[in-house]
Parts: sequence; structure tokens; C-alpha cells
Amino acid sequence: MDFKEELKKYQSIVNKELEKYIKKEDCYEKQLNEAVEYSLMAGGKRLRAILVIDTYKLFRDDYEKCLPFSMALEMVHNFSLIHDDLPEVDNDDIRHGKPTTHKAFNHVTALLAGDALFNNAYIVISEDIKKTVQKENWGELENKAKAFNEFGTAIDRMIAGEYIDTESEGKNISIDLLEYIHKNKTAALLKLSVRMGAILANVPEEDIQNLSRYAEKIGLAFQIKDDILSEEGNQEIMGKPVGNDKKHHKCTYVSYYGLEKAKEELEKIIGSAIEDLEPYGERAEFLRELTLYIKNRNK
Ligand code: IPE
Ligand code: IPE
Ligand code: MG
Ligand code: MG
Repeated sequence: MDFKEELKKYQSIVNKELEKYIKKEDCYEKQLNEAVEYSLMAGGKRLRAILVIDTYKLFRDDYEKCLPFSMALEMVHNFSLIHDDLPEVDNDDIRHGKPTTHKAFNHVTALLAGDALFNNAYIVISEDIKKTVQKENWGELENKAKAFNEFGTAIDRMIAGEYIDTESEGKNISIDLLEYIHKNKTAALLKLSVRMGAILANVPEEDIQNLSRYAEKIGLAFQIKDDILSEEGNQEIMGKPVGNDKKHHKCTYVSYYGLEKAKEELEKIIGSAIEDLEPYGERAEFLRELTLYIKNRNK
């Protein structure tokens, strides 16, 4: 399989689908809608949306059915990025190679564009649930209710993680707390992606448990790699500042362990995540490659 090609295909599916939710009409809040579009369509990797779809595709081919949940998650992720970049949080000026939303527009617009994205995610899911009720498809509805509940709970964890992340700046924290920050601020949404894909595909609880273990690992690994890139990445390629974690005295795997040990941890976790995919054989080829990409990515 040509992983890069497959990834591009997935990204273009996600981008096309997200476009459908962009509000283009002339109205008094036009600039707010433009800020939403600016953030949502800025060129993110779409990993969370893709994880929902590809996990679903481990079990079923009709992946269109999981698209609303997949899009909703990408909206929430982008809301979290807008707010994460605000001066009160990480105070970053560049994202996706462009000025952050509060720099390109203004603070109020960025704050409310984040709110709008957050709420739009719930509209997308509730519309999908409404249609499922109209079709009287009670089996599907049960899975969607479960996925919806997990959606809200995971976002609650992401917010908690963001809170402790900012609270911990400049402090000497334990490895337990550092892991807690990473598991919540980042891994919660990545784990949600995989769990939603599995839940919506109506798979047995045993698979959900197995894939959850996998997802927890890639979630943590994703943030460790983010910490490493903040230390030694290329700003041009990443499209976001390098060295900002250090500048803001952030608690990261690199500040705790040093670069080399952080890389060793990453290697270990990725190896173990790939083992978790064994039961899924050939169908998990893309997920396996995506897991390696999390370790090897340069953006
Ligand atoms: C960045 O996530 C924020 C973290 C949780 C580390 P991504 O690197 O997945 O963001 P985009 O959407 O691809 O820019
Ligand atoms: C972002 O974490 C996590 C969320 C937005 C929930 P970081 O602050 O470490 O990520 P970047 O480096 O700004 O993308
Ligand atoms: Mg942050
Ligand atoms: Mg940040």
C-alpha cells in the first residue's frame, strides 16, 4: 500500500465533507463564519477524522455512515486549537503556516469562532441522530447514542487536560501528572476517534476494549512526538512555532526526560500499539502505517 497516497485520499474525503458545513451566505456575522472557515480549512492533517473512518472500515465498508461523527470530531479539534493558541493559553501566533485565528482576525472573533465550531459539532451529530430516529433504525440509534455520550465525555477530558497543562507551566510536576495531562489534553480525542469508529461499526465489546488499548497508546505517543517536534522540528514544515514549549516553560516529555529518553519512550509505545493491531491482519494495514507515521511525522 502507498501510505502517503492513501492518506491524501482520506484527507481529501474529509476536506470535501467539511466544506459542506462552511457557511458562505451574506449575513451580519459573515466575519465570524470566515474565521470558522479560516481555522477549519487551514490544512490540518485530519488524523482524528481519519481514525474514525479507518477504524470503522476495519469492520464495515459503508464508511459514509460514520462521517457525521468524524466531521464533528474534526470541528471540536479545530475549536481546541483556536482556543489553545489564544494569548491566555499558549499565546502562539502561527498555526498551519499562517497567523493564528486571533492574529488573523481578533480575539473576540477567535473566541467565538471556537465556540461556533464546538457547537456546530453537536448540531452535526444531533442532525444525524434525528435522521436515524426518522428511519426507525433502533440498532444504529443505540450505537450513536453511545458514541455521542463518549464524544461529550472525551471533550470534557480534553478541556481538563488543557486546564492542567496551563496550570502546570513553570512547575516541577510528577511523571504521573505529566502523563495525566497528555492522556487528557491529547489522547482523549484520539482514543475517542478509534472508539467511535468501532462503536458505530457495531463491533463486539472485546474489539472495543482491544482497540481502546491501541488508541490510548497512539494518543500518548502523538503528544510525546508533538513535544519532540516542539524541541527539534522544522518550523517551516510544521507550520507552527518551534521552541514554544521551552519558552513557556511547559511540562513535556522532553522537559521531564530529555530528548533521547523521550524518543525511547515514543519508540516503545508505538511498538506496543502496533502489536495491538495484530488480530486485525491485513485490514489494519493503513492503521499500522498511520501508527508509524505518528512516530516519524515531521509535522
Ligand atoms: C495538534 O494536533 C494539537 C495536539 C493535540 C498536539 P494535530 O497535529 O493533529 O493538528 P492538525 O489538525 O494536524 O494541525
Ligand atoms: C494542544 O496541545 C492540545 C489541544 C489543543 C487540546 P499543545 O499546545 O501541546 O499543541 P500545539 O503544539 O499547540 O499544537
Ligand atoms: Mg497547549
Ligand atoms: Mg499549543
